[in-house]
Amino acid sequence: QKALPPGYKLRPLSSDDYEHGFLKVLSVLTVIGDISKAQFLERYNYLKKHNHEYFTIVITDPSDTIIGAGTIFVERKFIHNTGLVGHIEDIAVDKNQQGKKLGLRVIQALKYIGAKTGCYKVILDCSEEVRDLEIQPGKYDKLFHNVPFYEKCGFTRKEVEMAWYT
Ligand code: ACO
Repeated sequence: QKALPPGYKLRPLSSDDYEHGFLKVLSVLTVIGDISKAQFLERYNYLKKHNHEYFTIVITDPSDTIIGAGTIFVERKFIHNTGLVGHIEDIAVDKNQQGKKLGLRVIQALKYIGAKTGCYKVILDCSEEVRDLEIQPGKYDKLFHNVPFYEKCGFTRKEVEMAWYT
């Protein structure tokens, strides 16, 4: 793996990352909502208790601000001889930091975790087309076509995502 830019660090999510801009970086993905520190900690503590299944990593810039993030969730199956499948979720790089290979570094780290924990495959869903995305109620941004990014990260196209919203 190549190095991050000087002063940048890749590390697991930590309990004080509410103050380091974790939620702000996720806002390039979707509506985040008005999450309190208590809500953040409740979710963080759940993930920590399940840290054999949930791995959330962040990249910080030289001022210790989070500018990239991603998660892999390790699913336990019956099929494939009680196999494990890694699900990559919520990959985000701050708008001002995109195009510096930080997204690639996040994916490389998550693929490594998936392989080390014994996943027989790692999968993810991503956008097929450029589309409008509501990032705050009533505020829209463009979500870009991500297939070429994931192809550069070593993934190949397979199957179709279906969704049902409650
Ligand atoms: N279209 C074509 N190529 C792309 C795109 C794109 N949308 N994005 C990146 N690439 C290419 C880069 O040019 C680079 O190619 P190169 O090696 O030939 O120079 C390579 O992919 C690696 O790019 P990075 O610099 O690592 O990408 P970046 O740090 O900008 O991160 C990301 C990419 C995560 C998609 C970022 O743009 C982002 O946060 N976008 C908004 C949120 C988002 O869409 N997240 C993914 C949702 S899907 C999911 O979470 C499973």
